[in-house]
Amino acid sequence: MTAALTLENVDCFYGNVQVLRGFSLELMQGEVLCLLGRNGAGKTTALKAIMGLVPPRSGRIMLGETDLTRLTAHQVPQAGVAYVPQGRRLFAELTVAENIEIGLMTRKKGKATRESVLDLFPVLRERLKQRSGTLSGGEQQMLAMARALCLEPQVLLLDEPTEGLMPSMIARIRETVAALRERGVSTILVEQRVDAVLPVADRVAFIENGQNRDTLDVERLRADPDLVHRYVGVG
Ligand SMILES: Nc1ncnc2c1ncn2[C@@H]1O[C@H](COP(=O)(O)OP(=O)(O)OP(=O)(O)O)[C@@H](O)[C@H]1O
Ligand SMILES: [Mg+2]
Repeated sequence: MTAALTLENVDCFYGNVQVLRGFSLELMQGEVLCLLGRNGAGKTTALKAIMGLVPPRSGRIMLGETDLTRLTAHQVPQAGVAYVPQGRRLFAELTVAENIEIGLMTRKKGKATRESVLDLFPVLRERLKQRSGTLSGGEQQMLAMARALCLEPQVLLLDEPTEGLMPSMIARIRETVAALRERGVSTILVEQRVDAVLPVADRVAFIENGQNRDTLDVERLRADPDLVHRYVGVG
């Protein structure tokens, strides 16, 4: 298996405060890698480092042969990395259709992409003219994912997509991640609750205080759920 994305010894700071400490990660082609850790562990910062939003002070982040740390935050999505931030961040005043249009523009994708993305989220097709700020929480999460998928990304970064959603919506998000894996997309899924990810993850990487802890195959966690408590304290 080849790696779709690698982080090597990444150090990130906010001002003088170091948050990522020699953090490394390897996302294999077509896998769902879950990044798990407590509040403040550095999960969101790791995703922002990949996106060029918090440029690493040292270390390398490679997308295939491309060194992402040499790109601007504007260029990273164009290189094929899509990011759904924590808390969704849609353009609330814009309609569903307009939000999707913005996603398509990033990598100049057209109607075929739009249709295939809407096929993944039929509920959005019924609401194209609705202002996105008036969608339900679950619908907003789907729109945020749809907009990201309009890039036809090789790599998708999802930051706590199930936060605040009811179980049926969580299941929907999981199904979508699984469907994307079928299409060959490699995904980093940030979560705090392990039960939200166990059914869909291939491997789980633990982060603590900006540093790597173990990375485990999901089968090992299924066999021994207590392992999770050791790393994140809660189930
Ligand atoms: N813009 C910022 N300026 C200063 N410190 C920040 C900033 N963003 C995050 N931090 C700090 O960096 C640390 C890691 O934050 P980060 O958001 O990466 O954690 P997280 O693992 O995503 O947590 P959560 O599960 O709560 O989302 C925290 O101590 C946080 O307070
Ligand atoms: Mg976070």
